[in-house]
Amino acid sequence: MSHPHDPAERARLALKRPDLLREAAWINGAWVTGETLIEVTNPATGKVLGVVPALGEAETQDAVAAAAAAFPAWAARSARERSLILRRWYELVMAHRDDLARLMTAEQGKPLAEAQGEVAYAAGFIEWFGEEARRAYGEVIPGHLADKRIVVLKQPVGVVAAVTPWNFPAAMITRKVAPALAAGCTVVLKPSELTPFSALALAVLGEEAGLPAGVFNIVTGPPAPIGAVLTTDARVAKFTFTGSTPVGKMLAAACMGTVKRVSLELGGNAPFIVFDDADLDAAVEGAIASKFRNTGQTCVCANRLLVQSGIHDAFAARLVARVEALRVGDGLDGPTDQGPLINAAAVAKVEAHIADALAGGAAVMTGGARRGDQGTWFEPTVLCDVAPAALLNREETFGPVAGLVRFETEAEVLAMANDTRAGLASYVFTRDLDRAWRMGEGLQYGMVGLNTGLISTEVAPFGGIKESGLGREGSHFGLDEYLELKMMCLGLRPTQLQDS
Ligand code: SIN
Repeated sequence: MSHPHDPAERARLALKRPDLLREAAWINGAWVTGETLIEVTNPATGKVLGVVPALGEAETQDAVAAAAAAFPAWAARSARERSLILRRWYELVMAHRDDLARLMTAEQGKPLAEAQGEVAYAAGFIEWFGEEARRAYGEVIPGHLADKRIVVLKQPVGVVAAVTPWNFPAAMITRKVAPALAAGCTVVLKPSELTPFSALALAVLGEEAGLPAGVFNIVTGPPAPIGAVLTTDARVAKFTFTGSTPVGKMLAAACMGTVKRVSLELGGNAPFIVFDDADLDAAVEGAIASKFRNTGQTCVCANRLLVQSGIHDAFAARLVARVEALRVGDGLDGPTDQGPLINAAAVAKVEAHIADALAGGAAVMTGGARRGDQGTWFEPTVLCDVAPAALLNREETFGPVAGLVRFETEAEVLAMANDTRAGLASYVFTRDLDRAWRMGEGLQYGMVGLNTGLISTEVAPFGGIKESGLGREGSHFGLDEYLELKMMCLGLRPTQLQDS
């Protein structure tokens, strides 16, 4: 390798603070390099943006040791002190929003406007949990006997291990790390090897905000050896993962050897239901926002568009017009609405789902093919008449493909929507309040968007039921994932009772 990166690709980043781009892991307050390197490519161009060390078990153990050593002092700080450091971190992230967004677009491919949105979303978790740090209230419970007094304390669980995905290279990190730090835990993070630069830039700013050495550590490298330590080391008290359901199940099983606390945010298969009485414009805009956000690569993306027969054709026509107007392009070159897919495997999956749907009787209304002969581009696509049994309806497609399914009745669509082991997000468009409420209660999902395609925010609990996950992130519930309940029962001496 003459260059560890493509110089033109690096120059295109045009960072105001070039030192935010780090090609090293962050362990115990030091930048750690390694012999073996992983190339990080820009999916828009296929060119190498930079490298990070491919660390393994030994360095992961070092990071866990650093987090364990830093834990007592961090947990002993007052909630206010932790809160103020998180506040400074939030302000620094927002101050460097443009640089962080450019870095994210380059390593992940999402449009720059979406990357800017994600940086603000990521910062929102730091701000929110910095505030929540001061509200980890316990409880006083009336004693069960006259001489008993009971209190419940909330204490940090200890060292937290977090494994995060490539689709939201910053927000999925802060959604875990901010509540952990707020609670008084220390963290070892393994970011996706496809998008490590956003994570490392957050660490630069975290240090500037005042996070002490060892409190927040980042290990870069391949998943297997790092995951093996994080799921089995007894010093890790809590394991939190965002990613696919099969991998989440495997990691959770490994955690049970040392009975770690586990939270999982796994795959979805979101139904997006449009009733005849829906506001057509709102439903189409909701579908665009939900289906095509991050080029279809979110776990809450509409996966199946279930449309009642009376509105079906009008909805389909309007959706196709909107999809054809989406600007597809490299986010670093100018305003865009759709970027590339993350890699060739993602393109192959989208192609396989489309081929399967067409074989089952679906038809292409727009798109349906790769775009260009370089990079990992795919045309924003709409299919109609997708059979309920098609892969597009049964598996998470994770790409820019909207597959329409026609339905007749509310009972039919509710059964169809719930016929899956996934239970993350769902969406309903109707102007009938009774129906909205009935559907909201009947949908077997952790989240329901009623007349909206965008539901994510730091103030609400995010998470799934069934095989879509365990636990909740964001909101005041998200802090509890990093706190243990400790009950203390005080027995009063009889003399004290008599004296009073
Ligand atoms: C995800 O895709 O995992 C998260 C999406 C979100 O936070 O909206």
